[in-house]
Amino acid sequence: MTADNNFLMFLAPMAGYTNSSFRRCCSDLSADLTYTEMVSARGIVNNSSHTFQLLDTTWDSTPPFAHIYGNNPDVMAQAADILTKMEKFSGIDINCGCPARKVTSKGYGSKLMYTPQVIHDIIKAIKQVSTLPVTVKTRIGISESNLNYKEILDAVQMAGGNAIAVHARTISKGHKGEPRLDDLAELKSIAKIPVIGNGGINSVQSAKKMIKNTGVDAVMIGQAALGNPWFFDIENNREISLHEKKDMLIKNIKMDIQLIDNFYKETFPKKWASTAEEGAVIQFRAHIFRYLKGTRGWHPLKLEVSKIKTLEEVQNILNQLG
Ligand SMILES: Cc1cc2nc3c(=O)[nH]c(=O)nc-3n(C[C@H](O)[C@H](O)[C@H](O)COP(=O)(O)O)c2cc1C
Repeated sequence: MTADNNFLMFLAPMAGYTNSSFRRCCSDLSADLTYTEMVSARGIVNNSSHTFQLLDTTWDSTPPFAHIYGNNPDVMAQAADILTKMEKFSGIDINCGCPARKVTSKGYGSKLMYTPQVIHDIIKAIKQVSTLPVTVKTRIGISESNLNYKEILDAVQMAGGNAIAVHARTISKGHKGEPRLDDLAELKSIAKIPVIGNGGINSVQSAKKMIKNTGVDAVMIGQAALGNPWFFDIENNREISLHEKKDMLIKNIKMDIQLIDNFYKETFPKKWASTAEEGAVIQFRAHIFRYLKGTRGWHPLKLEVSKIKTLEEVQNILNQLG
């Protein structure tokens, strides 16, 4: 890496996307750190097979952070203990920013931002049972008129949290709108732990802008990496050919099929898919949309993709392009 490009880029946790196969594609192209999809702490404690599928690390070349949600410090600590003993993760990250109703209605995700004391208690409880680094992924504030990042930072630091990742948009802004870089810079200037900046990075230039304007220690890439693991290959910043996209897509989906085959053979919901291949292809449709978005000839194939169930059908779609 040249000095100018010498900064850390992490793949953001994204439910439905950042499984072991996709993480591997990003790591191979130089993502410095990855996170699992969000998993329920209670699901871990209750030994839910679905939860453990989400935690599968078969393809990871470097151990990801386990990204967990919940709000009960005891349950979070029990989950952290199990994750630590698995020896498959390099850290534990607590979801304190997800605005989805199914998560917040139970008091999890971004709901924790209303009670920094609970964030503190969760970290403290995890720290008592785990030697792994404990981090928090949160947002810059609840709303534009309630930017409570200082209280959250205090809670994380006081409890011994090792780093904080901050999506520089408020809960009320969802995943859209300009990130609040001035507030992120203010947070970084008072933080005693590393700060990872996130939100709205869609080019190497915007990653550099965030680092320059805020001084964050690393940046985290979300939507811009979907269907585009090459985003992390900043040394080779270039147009990706259709041929490369097709190869990556097939490599990614073959890993997905094996993931399901390896892990889920016994418990795979048969009513939903009859084979590992079918299950993997169905789950992978969302990735196909991301990989092929903007490709010439893609538009009329969209409807077909929403129905495909086999690798052969994926290949047929790809053959119709370019
Ligand atoms: C499809 C999708 C799923 C996401 N899932 C999670 C999640 O499980 N946990 C989380 O903390 N953030 C989640 N996020 C938020 C991202 O991690 C990231 O903070 C957000 O997209 C802002 O970064 P970006 O502007 O680079 O996309 C998700 C975002 C997307 C688009």
